[in-house]
Amino acid sequence: MSSGTRFAAPSITIDHALDGSATRTLAEDALDGLTQPLKQLAPKHFYDSRGAALFDEICELPEYYPTRTERAILEQEADRIIASSGAGELVELGSGSATKTRLLLDAMSRAGLLARYVPVDVHEASVRASAEQLVSEYPGLAVHGLIGDFERHLDRLPPPGARRLVAFLGGTVGNFRPGSRRRFLRTIVALLRPADRLLLGTDLVKDRATLIAAYDDAAGVTAEFNRNMLRVLNRELGADFDPDCFEHLALYDERNDWIEMRLRARKPQTVRLPGIDLTIEFAQGEDLLTEISAKLTRARLEADLSAAGLALTDWYTDERGWFALSLARTIR
Ligand code: SAH
Ligand code: AVI
Repeated sequence: MSSGTRFAAPSITIDHALDGSATRTLAEDALDGLTQPLKQLAPKHFYDSRGAALFDEICELPEYYPTRTERAILEQEADRIIASSGAGELVELGSGSATKTRLLLDAMSRAGLLARYVPVDVHEASVRASAEQLVSEYPGLAVHGLIGDFERHLDRLPPPGARRLVAFLGGTVGNFRPGSRRRFLRTIVALLRPADRLLLGTDLVKDRATLIAAYDDAAGVTAEFNRNMLRVLNRELGADFDPDCFEHLALYDERNDWIEMRLRARKPQTVRLPGIDLTIEFAQGEDLLTEISAKLTRARLEADLSAAGLALTDWYTDERGWFALSLARTIR
């Protein structure tokens, strides 16, 4: 190599947008969600260190097909995705441990385009760890990590450095309700210039037994992940939930085509949450809804994209049609 200046020096920038606001948001969500007739909370509150580690364990379970299916599609298609998008900058929403991300970074590197990776996640340690690992694995890569809520902090993204690919993998978009999904896609449109692309991973409608098994594994890891939300409430809001008093449930709602994860009270109980000055009662068999995970079809996804001002340009799926990766651009 002729000159050491051909590549930018490896660099890590971390922007912490949460600044203690995570606990405030949890307090607000808990007060709203736990006083509704059907008690509920948002799935972003699963992901403290234990929740993030449990999610990584879920990804390895035999029943949890989404991760390995999406990885197989990426192994097959990453070069085509990068050729089609021409991206030198990868912005990843809900990046977690960024395992599958490497397949995209490798393809960008092979195409001679790789410049910057911008992971966005509420879980601070995941952003910091993936930033450190990736700068050491990819010479010259700049990482700008954003520790923040992708529903509230996308205005903190750095100005684009190159053509951008905004990736939202894993099917996390399915954790929004349909209206919020469209609203969220609209906020992504605002981030995209005409040559930029969105890469969206979506889990697809399939037989009920496969879906339920994926959310109710034999080893009980998903059950522990679900109960972890109660541990987060205990730690952050001083609550006194006894996680063992709640049974993990995965239901498939066929009218809405979504999985619901619930925690069902095994006996009548009173729970105190001093952090928000709230006491709640659970009747025996009463549920707390912790997550929906919507399963899509190509038609439904195209309708959502179009309603948000996006057009599908490429659709990649596996042989069984269980999971899809879509590339989309803005309609302008
Ligand atoms: N993209 C990874 C991880 C998916 S798990 C994969 O495909 O395997 C969902 C990730 O999104 C977790 O890392 C979680 O911390 C993050 N997350 C959930 N809600 C979030 C929010 N509102 N803002 C930012 N990150 C969020
Ligand atoms: C992050 N998200 C896409 C996962 C899902 O499948 O909805 C979270 C999860 N919940 C239970 N298992 C995994």
